[in-house]
Amino acid sequence: MSVTGIIGGSGLDKLDGLVIAHRKRVETLYGEPSSALTYGSYAGKQVIFLARHGDDHSILPHKVNYCANLAALQQAGATQVIAVCAVGGIRADMSPGSLSIPDQLIDYTHSRRHSIYEDASDFAAHIDFTEPYCEPLRQQLIAASVKAGVAASTDVTYGATQGPRLETAAEIDRMDRDGCHIVGMTGMPEASIARELGLCYAVIALSVNYAAGREAGPIVMQAIETALHEGMADVRSVLTETLADTHPL
Ligand code: HPA
Repeated sequence: MSVTGIIGGSGLDKLDGLVIAHRKRVETLYGEPSSALTYGSYAGKQVIFLARHGDDHSILPHKVNYCANLAALQQAGATQVIAVCAVGGIRADMSPGSLSIPDQLIDYTHSRRHSIYEDASDFAAHIDFTEPYCEPLRQQLIAASVKAGVAASTDVTYGATQGPRLETAAEIDRMDRDGCHIVGMTGMPEASIARELGLCYAVIALSVNYAAGREAGPIVMQAIETALHEGMADVRSVLTETLADTHPL
């Protein structure tokens, strides 16, 4: 039976409400994933949860083994993956605490393993990525946010930066000109590797700060932690409604 994989990001290293059946360490062709897989049920549906940054949140965005994480979920039977990402808001309405379900992305990351493919002769490597997210799953997330009574923006472009440092104000201005509305460090290559593997993948992004230069003064970590803590309740509500209504695609 197919199941839903959930990748938890900052603020969601554990999934409250998940009834845990068991945990399993696995190995993939690409190495070890960030954490053991947690098998269980959430809103009455079978899910497999993985903490993107490790159980103790020790793996920085540029060090995450994205290939292993997605391959591990697929090996375990996941056909669709909902990823939760913390982001900074670039567009004015992407204020701390707001949710978005992005429909596009721009990749500014580098020096990460960007593909499961290594062999230049492999034509399968040239995946179509015109629409980077799985639209049926995105629509499920959007419908779930309406049911949950949680506002979520859906015409949103995610800009993925390398990190782990935050951006300069000029970099954010450039991303704004490019058409990015939110900025985060983990959205790529997660999305493209999911597509390479044939997984249906979509993102719930929680804004936890305004991006660099969008407010006077530096970005304060304590404020990010507070926004993460407060915003995850809305993320959980959307996940609950999504799974309650979902039969994996
Ligand atoms: N920039 C990049 N990644 C982030 C941010 C940000 O401002 N906030 C949360 N993740």
